[in-house]
Amino acid sequence: MLVSAEEMLKKAKAGHYAVGQFNINNLEWTKSILLTAQEMKSPVILGVSEGAGKYMCGFKTVAAMVDAMVDSLGITVPVALHLDHGTYEGAKACIEAGFSSIMFDGSSLPIEENVEKTKELVATCKEKGISLEAEVGSIGGEEDGVVGAGECADPEECERVASLGVTMLAAGIGNIHGKYPDNWAGLSFETLDAIQQKTGDMPLVLHGGTGIPDDMIKKAIDLGVSKINVNTECQWAFQKATREYIMAGKDLEGKGFDPRKLLAPGAEAIKETVREKIKLFGSDGKA
Ligand code: 13P
Repeated sequence: MLVSAEEMLKKAKAGHYAVGQFNINNLEWTKSILLTAQEMKSPVILGVSEGAGKYMCGFKTVAAMVDAMVDSLGITVPVALHLDHGTYEGAKACIEAGFSSIMFDGSSLPIEENVEKTKELVATCKEKGISLEAEVGSIGGEEDGVVGAGECADPEECERVASLGVTMLAAGIGNIHGKYPDNWAGLSFETLDAIQQKTGDMPLVLHGGTGIPDDMIKKAIDLGVSKINVNTECQWAFQKATREYIMAGKDLEGKGFDPRKLLAPGAEAIKETVREKIKLFGSDGKA
C-alpha cells in the first residue's frame, strides 16, 4: 500500500537523516528503486514529474503500476508515490489518480497566488490523507521543461507558506537540477539556517541532489533537510551501464538483444546509485 510521506519525514527530521526521493521513468526504474529500498530497510519516495507521467501513459497508469508492484514484489517498507514539480492541474489529476503525495510548485507564481493555490490544495490533501510539498524560491536549471532561475528563497516567505499546513517545504538555497557548473558557488547554508529557524519542525526538501558533495549533503541534513531528490544521477548510471553493454558487443552475443538482458545492466546500475544515496542520507534501517 502506498503511504503519505508525512510520517516518514517527521521521523527523518526528528532522527536527523533524510529520505530519498528517486524519480521514476518506467517499470525498470521503479522495480530497481523499490527492491533497493526494501533491501536497505529504508522508506522511499518515488518521484514522478509531469513529463515522466505523460511518458508512462498518464498518472493513472503510474499509480496502478506502482501500487501493484509494491504488492507483487512484497515491499514492506513505506513507499510514497509523489508528484514532482506539479502544476495546479497536475496536482489535482494526481490526487484523483491515487498518488499518496503531491508537490505543488507555485514558485514561479507571484507569492500571493502561490499561497492561495497552496492553501486550497492543503485542504484537499488533508481530507484525503495525502502529503503536500510546497516550494518557495526556485531551483535552478531545467527538469522536464520546468526551468528555474535558482534564486534563494526568502525565509519570511518560507515561514508564511510553511504555516499553511503543508507537510514539507522545498526552498531554493542555490541548488540546481542536473549537472552543477564548475563555477557553482555551493549551497547557501546561511539561507538554509535562516529558513530552518523560521520554519521549526517543518521537514525541508533539497532538490537537485545529483552531484552535491557528500559533506554538503550531511551539513544540509544537520540544518533540517529531511528529503533529498535525486533524478539525473540514476539516469547517468543507467546510460553508462547500457552504453558499456552495447559497446562491448554484448547485445550481439547469443540472445543479448533480449530487452530483459539489454536493460539489466542499467537496472543494476540504478540499484547501486540508490544504495549509495540511501547510505549517505542515513535512511537505511529506518523502515
Ligand atoms: P537532479 O536531477 O539534479 O538529481 O534533481 C532531481 C530533483 O530535484 C527532482 O525534483
